[in-house]
Amino acid sequence: MPAHTIFLVGGARPNWMKLAALYHVLKGNSHFRVSLVHTGQHYDDKMAGSFFRDLGLPDPDVALAVGSGDHGAQTAKILERFEEQLKRHEPDLVLVVGDVNSTIACALATVKMLYPDGRRPKVVHVEAGLRSGDRTMPEEVNRVLTDAISDYLFVTEQSGVDNLLREGCAPGRIFLVGNVMIDTLLSQAAEARQRAAWTRFGLKPEGYAVATLHRPSNVDDDERLSGLLRALRATSRRLPVLFPVHPRTRSRLARLGLDEADSRLIFCEPQPYVEFLSLLSAARVVLTDSGGIQEETTILAVPCLTLRDNTERPITVTLGTNRLIGSDPVSIMNAVEQVLAAPMPAPAPPPLWDGAAAERIVAILEGLARSGAVMQEPASSALAATRV
Ligand code: UD1
Repeated sequence: MPAHTIFLVGGARPNWMKLAALYHVLKGNSHFRVSLVHTGQHYDDKMAGSFFRDLGLPDPDVALAVGSGDHGAQTAKILERFEEQLKRHEPDLVLVVGDVNSTIACALATVKMLYPDGRRPKVVHVEAGLRSGDRTMPEEVNRVLTDAISDYLFVTEQSGVDNLLREGCAPGRIFLVGNVMIDTLLSQAAEARQRAAWTRFGLKPEGYAVATLHRPSNVDDDERLSGLLRALRATSRRLPVLFPVHPRTRSRLARLGLDEADSRLIFCEPQPYVEFLSLLSAARVVLTDSGGIQEETTILAVPCLTLRDNTERPITVTLGTNRLIGSDPVSIMNAVEQVLAAPMPAPAPPPLWDGAAAERIVAILEGLARSGAVMQEPASSALAATRV
């Protein structure tokens, strides 16, 4: 079987820990030639470069350097630049992860691509099927659209399978494989713990909270952001709160004149991956609106209070350490008190979150390739006419 070319596509911070697990497994598999694509949606060293170094990823083979922008402009730029790269390199498979603008843009460019010899690349979506049910979140729109146009859907938890079936996806396209982000976490957990990043901030294990906020619904609304900051300040009267501030949040806080920290609410720059994992691993409680952190705290057995009204990752609530709190300052403070009054939870990893998800995905892709499913059938001329 000739080797298939596979593009691994990332653009924003949460993509790299997912792609790293896949990259390292694919690299050792002679059936695939792997290329790394960086759209440049995130570009600061703290939001991108440091993650490549921490995760042992090489410089990207393809860099689109799109930068920030409004959703339409950013998505359009990625779409246009990625289409050029598809034409130039003609990969057989394009693998996208998660739910960011790079995910939908690259999936969309791929599904409409037809190479001059009539072949068509296949789209693989990893972390498919998650649904918050809230179409006002840009990520939810990206999830629904990406799943609708992907050829192969790799899912982290049963709710994702259920959602895809409900939306009419053919069962043969869906594979429940576990969580590649947890593969990376498990491979780095010992190093993270040993690094003891909390000592840099004068903190003690299980003696501090970690907070992160970046969702537009939380930080783009002045009143909501002020309320959340009040709740973090109140929490910091119970235990120190370390708050690595996302660039989006930093600019909103500055606009509100709210960025002055005090000795127990400690603002810092976004942390590199292993440092952040280190901080999470020894936290007493985490307050966040991130998706990935809900999953990471579940595996690390650290209580997580999610400052949103919904989650696309319900298994972190039913099996894990996550609770949905919303954004009301009084509810947040009550939830913190409850966590502090209870013992630390016991680990309860969801099924298949065992460090081997990337191996499963690559084994399935190899099986599909062997069966000829990935070898692109020459398109009929009618199809070619409609696709160009
Ligand atoms: C994006 C994703 C979100 C993901 C998050 C993780 C979408 C729709 N959203 O949101 O799902 O959880 O990434 O961080 O794709 N900026 C910098 N340096 C950078 C990148 C951004 O300073 O390296 C600034 C820019 O001024 C930009 C702002 O941060 O306006 C926000 O970045 P943006 O790419 O718009 O989305 P995120 O809020 O990070």
